[in-house]
Amino acid sequence: MKHLSQDMAGTTAGEALTSRSGDGLVVHTGTGTTISRRGFLAAAGAAAAFRPSVSLADSHMDWWTQARFGMFIHWGVHTIIARDIWNMEHEAIPPEEYMELGKKFRPPVGCARTWARLAREAGQKYMVLTTKNHDGYCLFDTKTTNFCATKQACGRDLVAEFVEAARAEGRRVGFYFSMMDWIHPDGIRCVVDEAARRRFVDYIHAQVNEICSNYGKIDILWWDGPWPLNAAEWEAEKLEKHVRDLQPDIIINDRGAQKGDFSTSEQKIEPAKEGRPWEACMTINNSWGYFAVDHNWKTPQTIIGNLITCSRGGGNYILNIGPKPDGSVPPDSVRVLQRVGQWTSQYGESIYGSELCKVTRSNYVNFTRKGNTLYLHVTRWVGPVITLARFTSKIKSARWLSTGKAVKFEQARQDDPREPSIGFSLYRVKFTDLPATAPEMIPVIAAEFEAEPIQDLKFPRWAQK
Ligand code: GLC
Repeated sequence: MKHLSQDMAGTTAGEALTSRSGDGLVVHTGTGTTISRRGFLAAAGAAAAFRPSVSLADSHMDWWTQARFGMFIHWGVHTIIARDIWNMEHEAIPPEEYMELGKKFRPPVGCARTWARLAREAGQKYMVLTTKNHDGYCLFDTKTTNFCATKQACGRDLVAEFVEAARAEGRRVGFYFSMMDWIHPDGIRCVVDEAARRRFVDYIHAQVNEICSNYGKIDILWWDGPWPLNAAEWEAEKLEKHVRDLQPDIIINDRGAQKGDFSTSEQKIEPAKEGRPWEACMTINNSWGYFAVDHNWKTPQTIIGNLITCSRGGGNYILNIGPKPDGSVPPDSVRVLQRVGQWTSQYGESIYGSELCKVTRSNYVNFTRKGNTLYLHVTRWVGPVITLARFTSKIKSARWLSTGKAVKFEQARQDDPREPSIGFSLYRVKFTDLPATAPEMIPVIAAEFEAEPIQDLKFPRWAQK
């Protein structure tokens, strides 16, 4: 049978030819297939869902959309208090008192190398460091303030060390930068006092100029905290243009009071509109910065599950670690990331370079896709048979991703039971002769389809209209 979902995808209602015949109107789809008008209308309505996915081809973003998994690092003098970055605001610590922390923050050389090795082991292709978070402490050398690593007890440029370490381990380099700055007195006054705004905006622009000029090629700029000013007050367009002049290939997020190149969702997985690159940023426990008593570590299963869900939605997953004041990574984070790394090194084919996947329906399998290959990630092993349904095309073959050994399957065509029908058949597949218990933490089966694997995601008995 000709694959009608694709026919429909290429035929708009305007293009279709209609004629009268027998019991009613018949629609000629222009592909040699004829369906009833009611079926056609239902299918036309559903066509968007069955349309093959838009490819995000944009060469400057290519490496990033293929990378899928990054490491976020929140670090700075706040780690000495060990109650996460927002503690300064929560406890209303006066800036003069807070700045004393600069005298105590003295991390040893080499910690950035530890993070970069861990990122490589975990399968995280890029690393983003807080060059300056909201507290205003600059991990980079700056002429704009004394509250920076080079002029305080640390006495070294921690951003330079980070860049060197990430490159040495083959990771792409990203800079987080908070526009808001709790230390700078104009950070509050800038909203009501034009002279303060001028000073503050010049201060921020100068810092951005420094981080984009002094460290060679930077791959990502991760803005944050654009409050309290608006885009015009920040002179954000001019700033972003300056960044791109200095770093023509840089990839910029959407938190700099500009659209940037990609959207961000925080502590949740929220795909952007199809065609817009996006990234979910999430923590490994419940904190961004080191929080000594937060032991609520996510499990490797949860992290891998999130990575799969982000990849499925065509997005990236950047997972945060909060190193201690001495730069060491809490052992529980290391343990979890290393276990994640065992999985990504075995199953990376299903993640890196994967494309938007329109298959989501199962309550124990999660999915990713590359071309016509659907990767089944069995997050809850239910036994020797896995059943999936409502595919718009057939499976040609299936194999275990770990060994390449064939997986047995049966598939049956099912007519759509709805009235009006969506106008074409769907396939139900059973993968059989599987082990009774899970062979791995999250085992993966690769199934090759005849066309892009797409599922009818409606519940036929629930939403017929
Ligand atoms: C929030 C927090 C900030 C953190 C960021 C990470 O915006 O304010 O401290 O760096 O989330 O996405």
